[in-house]
Amino acid sequence: MPKNVDWKNLEFQYMQTDSYLRADYREGTWGDLELCKDPHLSLHIAATCLHYGQSCFEGLKAFGRKDGSIAIFRPEENARRLIASAKRLVMEPVPEELFIEACKKALKYNRDWMPPYGTGASMYLRPILFGTSPHVGVHASEEYAFILLCMPVGPYYRDGFFPVKAMVQEKYDRAAPRGVGNIKAAGNYAAGMLSDMEGHEKGYSICLYLDAATRSLVDEFGTSNFFGITADNRYVTPESTSILRSITNKSLQTLAADFGLKVERRNIKVTDLANFTEVGACGTAAVITPVYSITHGDKVYKFGKEKEAGPTLTKLYKELQGIQYGEIADRYKWMVKLV
Ligand SMILES: Cc1ncc(COP(=O)(O)O)c(C=O)c1O
Repeated sequence: MPKNVDWKNLEFQYMQTDSYLRADYREGTWGDLELCKDPHLSLHIAATCLHYGQSCFEGLKAFGRKDGSIAIFRPEENARRLIASAKRLVMEPVPEELFIEACKKALKYNRDWMPPYGTGASMYLRPILFGTSPHVGVHASEEYAFILLCMPVGPYYRDGFFPVKAMVQEKYDRAAPRGVGNIKAAGNYAAGMLSDMEGHEKGYSICLYLDAATRSLVDEFGTSNFFGITADNRYVTPESTSILRSITNKSLQTLAADFGLKVERRNIKVTDLANFTEVGACGTAAVITPVYSITHGDKVYKFGKEKEAGPTLTKLYKELQGIQYGEIADRYKWMVKLV
């Protein structure tokens, strides 16, 4: 049972809740989901997840809504993306139904940890999949563990919906054109940590990566997709083989079209950053992080006001959050209710 949780001041960080779900793949089949309480694992010292990075994950949220219900945002999209990640890393995919069942059970068994409506907080669901068989030669695991944990979280950035400064990362690439940047491989995030750390040391909240082949096109930020708004009402987001297909971005594109914006998925030259009036970084954790400036070498691109998010980003953010919290009709049936 949660004790003294300050729902309105939660940060985006790990918190132990009552339980989590686990299913194991052994001898060619997935076992049933088991409810577990001990957050420590017993793992073989030669497990492929430890040595060769056979590990991928997802991140999605459930919301305590205005009508008192609890609903998960587009979980089938995350289930499908985890399947794509598993296939690329030669891992056993988690069936979509098992994934959704785990989400629902985690929420059911941790109901006391569900942030109440009106606090601005939500329940973060973190599914992970990893190879558990011992191999010391580079070889795919025969056995896999699927775990789904959850915890209440506040906004990703302490300042909330407030513009941040970004820099183009010129020293490191995030992903190769035909590499694994388009899946949620655990190793992608270790590979980005040094870059993030150096960016923070220079005073930038997030790093923007360019395509590794030509270093001339915008790819994405370290943990979020890039989109820009033009003065003539276009929502522009990169088309690239090395970016993660963000579910938030996909949803914002739908909403942007509803608002009469022309949605374009295309190459964006880094020099074309000058054409945007607003820029956002989008992802599950923060929904939209407004970007005030992007520094590229000695050039600084600025978008709108330093201390205030632009009007289109604000409208999109409010619409998506409104749907998630049940304040606006769920016209696309994105929310999967817990019954
Ligand atoms: C590299 C990367 N890009 C984009 C996103 C945003 O994706 P989504 O909106 O599905 O959370 C994430 C977070 O999951 C990410 O890690």
